[in-house]
Amino acid sequence: MYSEKVMDHFSNPRNVGEIEGASGVGTVGNAKCGDIMRIYLDIDENQIIRDCKFKTFGCGAAVATSSMATELVKGKSVQEAMEVTNKAVMEALDGLPPVKVHCSLLAEEAIHAALWDYAQKNGITIEGLQKPKSDIHEGEEDGEEY
Ligand code: FES
Repeated sequence: MYSEKVMDHFSNPRNVGEIEGASGVGTVGNAKCGDIMRIYLDIDENQIIRDCKFKTFGCGAAVATSSMATELVKGKSVQEAMEVTNKAVMEALDGLPPVKVHCSLLAEEAIHAALWDYAQKNGITIEGLQKPKSDIHEGEEDGEEY
């Protein structure tokens, strides 16, 4: 039911971890399944994403999409990163089963939340970027392991 690429990114996820002093951090959750994803962005002075890491407490499809999403945004400008939609991530993974499409949304939302955090900190506007609905505030998840 999963493509080879999904299986590959699930069993061997890229860019797992955190970035200390990240330029932007976004944490989002899916209320339905309770899965949580956090994305860290390291952005240079030319607004190019130098590095990207993630932590996901969630299902296999969420792990695979976050892995692929981090690969896709690396090296892109913050504006170009807006094009890394859940659709783009799914295409890069050769598709996801319909019941797992919502998992890929988490990756898109987490990137947007991290970009929003970066934009807020630096007082810039990223075209098309809206305030994330589901960004989970730091501190609310104290004591949780993920
Ligand atoms: Fe929750 Fe996949 S089932 S993100």
